[in-house]
Amino acid sequence: MRFRIPAIAPSEITPSETYFGRRAFLAGALAAAGTALGRAGAAVLPPRAGLPLAYSQDAADSVDALVHAPNQNETPNTWDQITHYNNYYEFGTGKTDPAAYAGQLQVRPWNIAVAGEAEVTGHFALEDFVKPYALEERIYRFRCVEAWSMVIPWVGFPLARLLQQFKPTSRAKYVAFDTLYRPGQMPGQRVPVLKWPYAEGLRIDEAMHPLAFMVVGLYGRVLPNQNGAPLRLIVPWKYGFKSIKAIVRIVFTEQQPPTTWSEAAPDEYGFYANVNPSVPHPRWSQATERRIGNPFFHERQDTLPFNGYANEVAGLYAGMNLRRYF
Ligand code: MTE
Repeated sequence: MRFRIPAIAPSEITPSETYFGRRAFLAGALAAAGTALGRAGAAVLPPRAGLPLAYSQDAADSVDALVHAPNQNETPNTWDQITHYNNYYEFGTGKTDPAAYAGQLQVRPWNIAVAGEAEVTGHFALEDFVKPYALEERIYRFRCVEAWSMVIPWVGFPLARLLQQFKPTSRAKYVAFDTLYRPGQMPGQRVPVLKWPYAEGLRIDEAMHPLAFMVVGLYGRVLPNQNGAPLRLIVPWKYGFKSIKAIVRIVFTEQQPPTTWSEAAPDEYGFYANVNPSVPHPRWSQATERRIGNPFFHERQDTLPFNGYANEVAGLYAGMNLRRYF
């Protein structure tokens, strides 16, 4: 992996002081000092989104996404674009709702349950999840099923490294993820627009692929709530809805798990959801995409199979009919 300093002018990043106020900045700085994400336990204040995130490089099993991206001239979207144009129905269906309302979500303490077909199961504090892994930056293309896209410098660690710790058994064919259910702090959950909690899943070989990534940061900073803090998945070759936010439960299963969007509209959203320009959504084409930040009159760009990661992941689907398993 080639470690990349974010290719962005500091002036484009909202200063943390402005973002959360001076007091929050100081409190968060204390918490973040010395560890990647702050230590467990009530005595330590949670790190604040937007604060610098201390992370290191681990060359062992990482991938530099930019090396594989088809167009290396792609510039990452700005912090403001990535944090103010979101899909997060727990906070409303509008693109600016998550930035407006997700601040009220308490992301510490945070526990994650691991269950199902694995030798190691139980309840774990977030800090137990994150501490053992060196954090790295991955600049990934992100393609939403709504035919817009961004380029995002995430910070996190490979999902496989996390899952291997639980020693999945040979019966673990899939892995399922659930988002937190907390209607008191997630006002969208008081309305039945989707079946709560939001749920997603991957086939185990997809989950173990080195591009599948667990994210805790953005632009070298602590992940903002609207982007899925404190822990969210990113599967860059799949439509964005697979990339579930605010994960509290991981279950290894033998059967394909139900997933929120494929249950809500099975004809429109499949379990696989691999980015595929030749399979249109029933109500719109997937052949092209609008890069967020481009001016309105800017030409749309072609969508690439597997979002440009075909060389890495197409082998996972050898022999499968991708029109049927969309
Ligand atoms: N996760 C949860 N829990 N709830 C959601 O509504 N939306 C999904 C995905 N993960 C969603 C979610 C969709 S449709 C997209 S496109 C991405 O999150 C958006 O991620 P971003 O806001 O960080 O760009």
